Amino acid sequence: MVWNPVAREYLLANIPRVLVPLNVKDKAIGVIAFGAKESGDIYNQEDIEVLKVISSQVAIALENATLYEQTKKFNIKLTKEVSRATADLQQANTELRKLDEAKSEFISIASHQLRTPLTVIKGYVSMMLEGSFGKLAPTVDENLYKVYESNERLIHLVENLLNISRIESGRLQFNFAKEDLTDTVASVVEELSHTSEMKKIYLKYSPPKEQIMVDMDEEKIRQVVINLIDNAIKYTKKGGVTVSLQKQADKAYFCVSDSGMGIAEKDLPNLFKKFSRGKDTSIVHTEGTGLGLFVGKMMIEAHKGKIWAESKGTAQGSKFCFTIPLINKQPPKTLEGKVV
Ligand SMILES: Nc1ncnc2c1ncn2[C@@H]1O[C@H](COP(=O)(O)OP(=O)(O)OP(=O)(O)O)[C@@H](O)[C@H]1O
Ligand SMILES: [Mg+2]
Repeated sequence: MVWNPVAREYLLANIPRVLVPLNVKDKAIGVIAFGAKESGDIYNQEDIEVLKVISSQVAIALENATLYEQTKKFNIKLTKEVSRATADLQQANTELRKLDEAKSEFISIASHQLRTPLTVIKGYVSMMLEGSFGKLAPTVDENLYKVYESNERLIHLVENLLNISRIESGRLQFNFAKEDLTDTVASVVEELSHTSEMKKIYLKYSPPKEQIMVDMDEEKIRQVVINLIDNAIKYTKKGGVTVSLQKQADKAYFCVSDSGMGIAEKDLPNLFKKFSRGKDTSIVHTEGTGLGLFVGKMMIEAHKGKIWAESKGTAQGSKFCFTIPLINKQPPKTLEGKVV
C-alpha cells in the first residue's frame, strides 16, 4: 500500500486510536484512522463492529470511484486513438483511390491505343484470307488463320479491359432501345457456328416462334451472349452446346448448356468475379483472362436482369443463364404472326 504524504503527516501528528483497514476482496486499498472519541470513552466492541461495516462500504465506494476514473481516462485515450487511426485510414484510402484512378486511366489509354492497330491488323488479315491480295498457299492460309484468331483474342481482351475501366469509372454508357432478343441470339449462333464446326461439336438453337422484345443496348447484350456461347464451345471437347431463349412470365430467359468440362462446386460462387477462372480451366484452355463473365454480370445488372451458372460438377457440363425484363407491352401481331 502506498501512503499518501498528507495522511502520513496527519497520522504522525495525531496518534490514532483505531485503524480500520479498507479491503476489497483480499486487497487492502487503504485504512481509516480514528482519533479519540469526543466523549473521551474508549472504543467498545460495538463501535468496532459499526466501523467495520462502514469501512467495507467506504472501500467499495472508493474502489468504484477509482475504476470509474480509470475507465474515463481509458475512454479519452481510446477516443484519441480511434480518431488518429480513422485519420490514417482516410489518408490511406485517398491515396489508394488516387492510385486506382491512375491505374484505370492507364488501362483506358493503353486499351484505346491498342484497339486501332489491332483493328487494322484484323482488316488486312481478313482481306488476305479472303484472297484480296491473290491466292494463298494452303500452309500460309492455315497459319494466317492462326494470326487472325490470336488477333481476335487480343481485340476481345482489349474490349473487356476498356469495358471494365469504363464500368469502374462510371463512364460506361448504354444506348437502350426496344429490340428483339431473338435476332441477336440467332446472329451470334450463326457467327459462332464456324468455331463449333472446327471443334467438331454441335451448336443447337431452336429460335422461339415469337418475338422477344426487350429494352436493351444491343451491342452490350450481344457481347454477353457471345461470351456465354464462346465459353461453352471453348470448354467442351465432346458433345456440344444447346442455346435456348424463351419468355418466362415477364422476363426473357436465355440459357446456354453444354456437355463440357463442368465446374467444381467451390468455383461456382467465384466465376463472376474479375480475373476469376476455374481451377483446372487454364490447363484445358490456356487462353482467357476471366473477364468475360465479370463484364457480363455488369451488363446484365445494368439491364435490371440476373445472370447465374449451374453445374453438377467437374466433367458434368455447365449451364449459364440470364434473364432481362420484357417490355411490358408487346407489339400487336397480325394474323400471319408478323408485327405491325
Ligand atoms: N461453359 C463453361 N464450362 C466450364 N467452365 C466455364 C464455362 N464458362 C465459364 N467457365 C469458367 O468460368 C471462368 C470465367 O469465364 P470468363 O468468360 O469470365 O473468362 P474466360 O473465358 O476464362 O476469359 P475471357 O475473359 O476471354 O472471357 C472460365 O475461366 C472458366 O473457368
Ligand atoms: Mg469467356
